[in-house]
Amino acid sequence: MCPCTARASKQPRALARVRALLLALATMLATVHAADNPPKPTAAAAAAAAAASTPTPAASAPVPGVAAANSFNRLLRAPGRRNLSPAEDQIHDPGNDGTLLLQPPLTAFDALPRSNAGNRVDWVKALGGTHIQPRADRLDPKAAPMVMDLNIVREVKGSMPDVVYPHKQHTEWLDCSNCHPAIFVPQKGANQISMASILLGQQCGVCHGKVAFPVSECRLCHSKAKPAAANAVAASASRSAP
Ligand code: HEC
Ligand code: HEC
Ligand code: HEC
Repeated sequence: MCPCTARASKQPRALARVRALLLALATMLATVHAADNPPKPTAAAAAAAAAASTPTPAASAPVPGVAAANSFNRLLRAPGRRNLSPAEDQIHDPGNDGTLLLQPPLTAFDALPRSNAGNRVDWVKALGGTHIQPRADRLDPKAAPMVMDLNIVREVKGSMPDVVYPHKQHTEWLDCSNCHPAIFVPQKGANQISMASILLGQQCGVCHGKVAFPVSECRLCHSKAKPAAANAVAASASRSAP
């Protein structure tokens, strides 16, 4: 599809998409609060969780379809199901002796800066405050990460604040090749990013909700307030829409 058609047809559908999005989010959060019946640690469930790009009905799904689409969002867990020990977390092999040697997250996270979401650690602060010093290279302890300080602002239609994507916080952990070119073409505006695909575990959702703070933290991404005039225009536009 030509990107110009996509762009032109986006505006009239924006309202419907925002509604669908809010519905998906409401159901997702309801699922989190209701989810005290976790999936049995079967190989099938683990495979379903791993295959985030091909949403399959998860064994735990209290609402068919919705929970399956959000099964990647393992950082959105009910309080009693957060930061389980390695043997219970359905990531590590409970049958492997090495699993039992790992430090449980609740002990490991105790001294780290807190956040109100995900696994309750503010990882950006933990790294900035040198609470942790991860290696940039597994084998070379002296290797330094290639940090790039470049913010990309993505304008968001409607009243939601614009998204600021910061390269700095990402390249302190990640290699350019973790995102470029498979997830994002390295060119401002070249990628069509949407909340719908993020909620399905694509684009920013490849990591956010899995290994980085979850999608419930709107303001961490939507951090740039629109000029007051633009907000007024957006508000009157949405009032006059059919
Ligand atoms: C976590 C994912 C991620 C990582 C890691 C990452 N980038 Fe990016 N990069 C993005 C996104 C998102 C954009 C914006 C694309 C868009 O607007 O469509 C972008 C845009 C760019 C652009 C285009 C800038 C412009 O003004 O057109 C360049 C160049 C770039 N990245 C280089 C790099 C380099 C070099 C590294 C490693 C030091 C890196 N990126 C690491 C996600 C990433
Ligand atoms: C390859 C994995 C990956 C992708 C893709 C990715 N992120 Fe991140 N992001 C991280 C990690 C890891 C962190 C640091 C840990 C954390 O904050 O949970 C982070 C941190 C951030 C922060 C910093 C928050 C702070 O406290 O300063 C913002 C903002 C952010 N991401 C936005 C985005 C946006 C917007 C996109 C998509 C355009 C995106 N990320 C795509 C992995 C990713
Ligand atoms: C990990 C970063 C991230 C988080 C967290 C996040 N968003 Fe977004 N959001 C984006 C990006 C990137 C876009 C696409 C912007 C663009 O058009 O380029 C977007 C777009 C949107 C849009 C425009 C319509 C659409 O579907 O693309 C709305 C509305 C929106 N987000 C609402 C929210 C709400 C509400 C939350 C919290 C429940 C939230 N977002 C959390 C990154 C994020």
